[in-house]
Amino acid sequence: MINLKYKPTIEGNKVILRPFESQDIDFMVEALEDKEVMKFTGSSAFFDKEFLINWYNTRNEQVDRLDLAIIDKANNTVVGEVVINEYDEIKHSMNFRILIGPGGRNRGLGTEATILVCDYIFLNTDLKELTLGVYAFNPRAQRVYEKAGFILDSIDKADLEYEGEMIDALNMVLTRKRWEEIYYKGDTLN
Ligand SMILES: CC(C)(COP(=O)(O)OP(=O)(O)OC[C@H]1O[C@@H](n2cnc3c(N)ncnc32)[C@H](O)[C@@H]1OP(=O)(O)O)[C@@H](O)C(=O)NCCC(=O)NCCS
Repeated sequence: MINLKYKPTIEGNKVILRPFESQDIDFMVEALEDKEVMKFTGSSAFFDKEFLINWYNTRNEQVDRLDLAIIDKANNTVVGEVVINEYDEIKHSMNFRILIGPGGRNRGLGTEATILVCDYIFLNTDLKELTLGVYAFNPRAQRVYEKAGFILDSIDKADLEYEGEMIDALNMVLTRKRWEEIYYKGDTLN
């Protein structure tokens, strides 16, 4: 296990990533119930409100994962979340996922949030790589992940049924070596 008990606040130009607070839950419910979020995260049912209250109120106690709210600095509101979870002992890797509700999309927040949390993880743990899954019908998310340095690793064929069509899931990876090449580009370490 990687100890991720400490929940940082990370400030970028457009977003702040910070631990969840109880007043964030309504914003997260709105984001989670958004049609695009449901489609691209593969969720088919609405979450139970009680479950979500308990979920977000317990994120900061979790030692084996990192859940941070994404704050849009333009208006100081919660627009979504980044999550590092699912430690893989064999690969010494963890999984990354992100979701942003309608008000926060397509303004560069997702790209910045992805880069900030990946930088944090590689700078503060010895993980060898971060992995993620993205559906083939989500080119926007793929573009964001590519901008952060992730590359295609493998494909799970016909992973999701969506409106009668079978959708592939793409598995992407960001190795520490590739992250270092990007992070220290132009730096003396390169
Ligand atoms: C995916 C997500 C995190 C991206 O965050 P975002 O803030 O909307 O994205 P950004 O504005 O930072 O960047 C989007 C990039 O994709 C590009 N893009 C947008 N729509 C695109 C499309 N249909 N095809 C290809 N590229 C697209 C944009 O041009 C931009 O790239 P650029 O900076 O090179 O121009 C966010 O949109 C989201 O949460 N969506 C709903 C849930 C989801 O898809 N979660 C991910 C599940 S794997």
